[in-house]
Amino acid sequence: MFRIPPGLVEKYGISGPRYTSYPTAPIWHDIDRATQLEWLASLKESQRPFSFYFHIPFCRNRCYYCGCNTHVTRNQAQSATYVEHIIKEIRQITKYHSNNKEVRQLHFGGGTPTFLLDEEFEAILGTMRSAFSFETDVEIAIEVDPRTTRPNQLAFLSELGFNRISLGVQDFNHEVQVAINRIQSEEITYEHLQVARSLGFRGINFDLIYGLPFQTLNSFEKTLSSVIQMRPDRLAIYNFGYLPNRMIHQRKIDPDSLPDRQTRLALLFEAIHQLTDAGYEYIGMDHFALPEDELAIAMKNRTLNRNFMGYTPKADVDLLGIGMTAISEIGDYFLQNEKQIKPYQKQVSETGLAACRGMALSQDDIMRKWVIRRIICHFYLSFSEFEAAFNISFSDCFQTEVEQLKTFQEDGLLAIASDHFTVSETGKIFVRNICMVFDTYLNKQDAPTVRYSNTV
Ligand SMILES: C[S@@+](CC[C@H](N)C(=O)[O-])C[C@H]1O[C@@H](n2cnc3c(N)ncnc32)[C@H](O)[C@@H]1O
Ligand code: SF4
Repeated sequence: MFRIPPGLVEKYGISGPRYTSYPTAPIWHDIDRATQLEWLASLKESQRPFSFYFHIPFCRNRCYYCGCNTHVTRNQAQSATYVEHIIKEIRQITKYHSNNKEVRQLHFGGGTPTFLLDEEFEAILGTMRSAFSFETDVEIAIEVDPRTTRPNQLAFLSELGFNRISLGVQDFNHEVQVAINRIQSEEITYEHLQVARSLGFRGINFDLIYGLPFQTLNSFEKTLSSVIQMRPDRLAIYNFGYLPNRMIHQRKIDPDSLPDRQTRLALLFEAIHQLTDAGYEYIGMDHFALPEDELAIAMKNRTLNRNFMGYTPKADVDLLGIGMTAISEIGDYFLQNEKQIKPYQKQVSETGLAACRGMALSQDDIMRKWVIRRIICHFYLSFSEFEAAFNISFSDCFQTEVEQLKTFQEDGLLAIASDHFTVSETGKIFVRNICMVFDTYLNKQDAPTVRYSNTV
């Protein structure tokens, strides 16, 4: 059984960012149209290939735990209007690229992207293929809710070029499923996995959550055993983000039904124990993959990247977010679109674009982003690589931080050598805390007060 020394959870279990970006989104500020255009124009000088993220917000019902940016509706007509806006946004963006760059990755997330009709997917992919050329091994990924796919939908998506898939599972226990308003049989999950496999989808992922109502060590053990038998290529095991003050629908969950902190940790440790025993590798925060999977290989080669979609083997790209709430990362700029469907569609109708928040990174931000990304993706940081990248000594640049790291070393979370440091197996559980040492905004007097989820 995976264990950690006593006292560490009490010491390090605090609220902290998940570092899908640095600086984190709450630090960004409102931007006007002129700023958005100026930042987009930097695409013309960039030689990096593109990665596109499409946010499809629709869901027919709300799962009570859900923390995603969704738009709950059963009115299918809404997707046609939304897709028209998405296509308009893509066409506007194409004006900002130079022709010699290719698309390396497309990712459809949500909400539930499979809400879209076949012809709507065709329209989006058709627009993309006529505006951009794709790399020969382009990854086209989609998040799928096995409860609501249409017959033959996966086959249709495969024909259209989709080749990676992530299935929302969460937990197989019936009592848990009732409490979260998500009834999903093991059979339907397995059926989708089999169909996806037979169609040649790779990097097939399951999402699970620990910390859900009525989960016990015993019930979660059973869910994990069933999952291991099915053997998806990848697993995301998320810590339940319970923020009922911000997300009203989460109030439908009885707080007394939630596992306490000790149990939650036991659930995480059980997942680490069972999955690593079954041959999965612990990729990083919340993620596991079979050793032959591209994600595990990228971690070993230290080419793994992390962005708003989570961990990805596709690095060195300009990320363009299309749709409501979608985030773009273009070189040293972050931009985020309007977060609600109506303002998003209004902005796109009027201007073709919809970014309303963002940030231009300073040199200090760029260096800290480099460091945080390496810690959270590789669990390893080379001082000489930092010096080669920025022409400045790591220890001169981060004197205070290096002092703070010594406490982590004393607690067995890090091993510091003359030219690098490595995060230990126990340290992986607390990797967000290690990154927080380098986050200059957390301690700023005028930093916005943000309630992040707990680090463990
Ligand atoms: C966009 S959904 C996946 C696709 C599809 N809508 C579905 O539910 O099957 C993304 C994933 O985020 C995770 N998630 C959603 N809300 C969460 C929360 N409050 N805490 C932790 N993970 C959450 C779930 O594991 C979910 O599968
Ligand atoms: S978990 Fe997926 S299906 Fe459930 S509400 Fe959230 S986005 Fe929709």
